[in-house]
Amino acid sequence: MTEGHRRLPGDLAPSDQVERMIRVDQAGEFGAVCIYEGQLAVLGRSPSAPVIRHMAEQERAHLAAFDRLVAERGVRPTALMPLWYAAGFALGAGTALLGERAAMACTVAVEEVIDEHYGGQIEQLGDDEPELKRAFEGFRADELEHRATGLEHGAREAPAFDALTSLVKVGSRLAIWLSERI
Ligand SMILES: [Fe+2]
Ligand SMILES: [Fe+2]
Repeated sequence: MTEGHRRLPGDLAPSDQVERMIRVDQAGEFGAVCIYEGQLAVLGRSPSAPVIRHMAEQERAHLAAFDRLVAERGVRPTALMPLWYAAGFALGAGTALLGERAAMACTVAVEEVIDEHYGGQIEQLGDDEPELKRAFEGFRADELEHRATGLEHGAREAPAFDALTSLVKVGSRLAIWLSERI
């Protein structure tokens, strides 16, 4: 992509790489919306509801941006959308059933993975796609804000914080890997 970043045999062409990024990010932002919807299905009347609703709104704006990019650039969306709907909603509702703090721990775990993920993409994009890069940087900043919100709302006091976040991270990384490919 950037000069000095030589492609090796078997690497994707730059345009395929960008397509792959848009595909996986659309899936991820869709998954994020579903996670927060799952949380709100359980915690819609709890003290955390306004905070969760605000994060859900931001995820919806991220998703809308990727829906536009998919249309503009003719990207094939992942075939796994129905799976991400079910998995995202179940993850959100499931952690919310464990309590508000567990829901926040779920957010912290997901956002840490997404922060790394956007960070890698931003690095890969180099200077070839300045607009896309700026957009990713903006989304990444929102995700880091969500992580901070989760921590401010007691994520670390969630039952089995370490086990819960490790599990959510493994699942999120698997979802990313699959959505890039299928
Ligand atoms: Fe997002
Ligand atoms: Fe987020």
